[in-house]
Amino acid sequence: MKLKLTKKEQEMLDGKGTASAKKAMEILVALGKIFDAERMVKISSAQISGVSYKNLGDAGREFLKEFSESGAKVKILATLNPSGMDLKSWREMGISKKFAKKQIELIRIFGKMGVQASCTCTPYLIGNVPKFGEHISWSESSAVSYANSVLGARSNRESGISALCSAIAGVTPEYGYHLDENRKAKFRVNVKTKPKKDSDFSALGYIVGKKVKNGVPYFRGIRNASFENLKFLGAAMAASGAVALYHVEGITPEAKKKNMLSESFEEIEIENLDEGYDALNSKVNEIDLVAIGCPHASLSELNEIAKNLKGKKVKTKLWVMTSRKIKEIAEKRGLIRKIEASGTKVFADTCMVVSPIEDLGFKTVATNSGKAAFYLPSYCGMKVRFGSLEKCISAAVTGKWN
Ligand code: F3S
Repeated sequence: MKLKLTKKEQEMLDGKGTASAKKAMEILVALGKIFDAERMVKISSAQISGVSYKNLGDAGREFLKEFSESGAKVKILATLNPSGMDLKSWREMGISKKFAKKQIELIRIFGKMGVQASCTCTPYLIGNVPKFGEHISWSESSAVSYANSVLGARSNRESGISALCSAIAGVTPEYGYHLDENRKAKFRVNVKTKPKKDSDFSALGYIVGKKVKNGVPYFRGIRNASFENLKFLGAAMAASGAVALYHVEGITPEAKKKNMLSESFEEIEIENLDEGYDALNSKVNEIDLVAIGCPHASLSELNEIAKNLKGKKVKTKLWVMTSRKIKEIAEKRGLIRKIEASGTKVFADTCMVVSPIEDLGFKTVATNSGKAAFYLPSYCGMKVRFGSLEKCISAAVTGKWN
């Protein structure tokens, strides 16, 4: 066996701790063997996906219940991905009592294990902010991409269960993006157009993700990108491909420190973003729901939304998704009141993809997120319109996509 464990890790595996720590270590060791890891590395945080009752169903809930009843406890900071509903305002979303009961039970199960019920895919906006070079075990694909690329932390694209096991054991097998040699880009993406809006970065991400699949792209030609722009770019690449790490010349931290291109790499030319906008748009014009906040909206996005909605009333439902903590800060600043004056609803703890929107009477959705536009058709059976925030808000005001 190539994988070497420390004395403490071996004891955990031998069952000298709790039964759940043994189980967690068994899963991590199996993973380590599959990926040829030589050792485990300590992690500073975990982010656990697979929280929505819509995804987990009763089988997943039973598994987690048993795991927690066997004494499973996380030993590091562990936060949760969005759940299937706003944990406070689920009735306003139209969620059934049956679904709500099961979802609340799931959150309690995670809570019993010591996992924070943060219920967001942007934990890095609310205090789970890994430092440059820190090893972590995160499972939400857009969050993994952000942590690796924008923060310079190190995570593989974990599953919900492997991230939970790592949170219990405090370690993860050292392979993939934990190692320097796998963090260099094998694709150089020469961007000849100027993406400006979040939807432009989403469209770019969609195109590049399709081309590089699970590779590491290195972007050249992007002069300006806000944190929000990068969040949209990474989320779309993680959806259309399986990109978990990217570099942007002169912008992302590793690319600023050293050459992050491999010795040999493939060139990709991006002349315009049409391919992304075309692929993510269906032909529908009547919009049932406008959904913003994938990944969860930041304070600056909420500000932008409030500005765009000033003096307007929505005709079609407009839902904005964010984390509970960001919503609370925005409430104190009067932002939520301003946004909701238009008839918009700001929901926390959930999102348009992991909530059961297909059971809530919606058939068509407009969004400014490439990731949401990618998953809503296959995952929720929606017909989608994808475009800028301004276009989405106009669709909410008129009920139509113009
Ligand atoms: Fe987050 Fe849901 Fe989008 S988990 S990245 S808002 S699909």
